[in-house]
This record gives sequence, C-alpha cells and structure tokens, in this order.
Amino acid sequence: MKDLPEGCIRRLPLYLRQAQRYSDSGVDTVSSKELSEDIGVSPETIRKDLSQFGEFGTRGVGYNPEKLVKEIKSILNLHSTWDLALVGVGNIGSALLTNPEFEEGGFCITLAFDRDPEVVGKNIGGLEVLDVEEMTSRISEEGIDMGVIAVPPGNAQSIADSFVEGGVTGILNFAPVKVDVPSGIELIQVDITCELSRLAYYTGEKLRTKEIEDNYLGEE
Ligand code: NAI
Repeated sequence: MKDLPEGCIRRLPLYLRQAQRYSDSGVDTVSSKELSEDIGVSPETIRKDLSQFGEFGTRGVGYNPEKLVKEIKSILNLHSTWDLALVGVGNIGSALLTNPEFEEGGFCITLAFDRDPEVVGKNIGGLEVLDVEEMTSRISEEGIDMGVIAVPPGNAQSIADSFVEGGVTGILNFAPVKVDVPSGIELIQVDITCELSRLAYYTGEKLRTKEIEDNYLGEE
C-alpha cells in the first residue's frame, strides 16, 4: 500500500461511518455530492481521495455503500476488531469504556488499568478495572497491539514505556504532554485544547472578515 496523504487518512473514517449509515438503511448507491452534503467534505475531495484506490464507484452513478464500507475497512486495517488496553479510568477513561460508538468503530477495550485502589476492582462498562502493576504482563500475555493513555500528564511517559515493554505498536495519548517512544511505535496525540485553538484562529479570522465587510457596507 502506497503512503497515503495524512488528510486522506483523516477523512477515510468519515466516509466509512457515513457509508455504514447508508448501508444500514438499505441505500444502494450514493453520489459524491450526496456524501459531500452529509459529511461536509467537497465532492471533488471525496472523488480524489477514493480514486487513489482504483475504481471505487461507477462514473455518473456513484458508490455502492456496502462496497465502500468493505474497501475502506480494508484500507484502514479495520477488517477485524482491534483489542485495546486503556490506562487511567478517570473521566476520560470511564467515558471511553462506556461509549458504544467506540466498539461500533471496530475497537474493543479488553483491558483497563488504574492505580487508585478506589477504582481498581470496579466494573465499568462491563470490564473489571485491574491494578496497573499487572499492566505489562497482561498486555503482553493477551497480545494487545494498541494502548490508550488517559492518566495525568506527569505519569504519561511511564505508562507509554510500559506499553512499549508490553509489546504494543500503537499508542493514543490523551495526556497533554509529549511522550517519547522508540521508532517503530505509532503515537497519536489527542488534544481538544489544540483543536479549540485552531478553531479560535479560524473563528477569529471569520469574525475579522465579517467586521471589515460590515464596516465597508456601513460606508456605502
Ligand atoms: P482523571 O483525573 O479523571 O483520571 C485519571 C486517572 O488516571 C485516575 O483514575 C487516576 O487514578 C489514574 N492514574 C493516575 N496515574 C496513574 C498511573 N500511573 N497508572 C494508572 N493509573 C493512573 O483525569 P481525566 O479527566 O480523565 O484526564 C485524563 C488525562 O487526559 C489527563 O492527562 C488530562 O489532562 C487529559 N485530558 C485530555 C484532553 C484531551 O483533549 N486530550 C481533555 C481533557 C483531559
């Protein structure tokens, strides 16, 4: 598989989710224009993204949602469910454990760890929270490939190290801190504050443009 542009990889899950919705509701064909209206990505971008994988749709007719789901799952390595280990069962960790969409997307948290004796042993979202002391051995025994860090920033690096020691290959880090991992380990940072800062930039620009336009109209 050739290296895909980052933007395309970010959009594929959007196409997948929407195609799954069409497929579930029995839709046979969908055009890039309809898909565009439902997910807010331009039809040109959709066509360009999907054309990278060969003949996906039929020109002038559109895409078959079921086929789209199958193909995108194959591109994203989502043909089978990924088992995940989660460390830190606080606000974010509990929300992830009880969120059904996570599982519908092909991800199943099969191990959850915390260090707080008040939390260890609790059943959250059908899973018993284990002591973090057992983390490395359990994830290694169960051959877990992906880990999620949801602990405070000061503890994130040691959890990342334990994940690597336990054999995971991909880490999703919610803690707002840089963690170092060896090459060969995929690390993705989730940061809502950074996203909000991006939003602030674009919103500020829009407001400034509107202000200029309003002033201009006021002068007429
Ligand atoms: P929380 O304080 O509710 O939960 C943290 C949990 O981690 C607690 O249950 C605690 O016992 C556990 N913990 C702490 N050290 C541990 C260790 N060494 N091993 C195992 N468990 C440990 O925190 P919350 O609100 O769930 O946030 C989690 C992380 O996500 C924090 O780093 C926070 O800054 C970050 N965060 C990230 C956001 C984002 O956009 N990515 C948004 C909000 C918070």
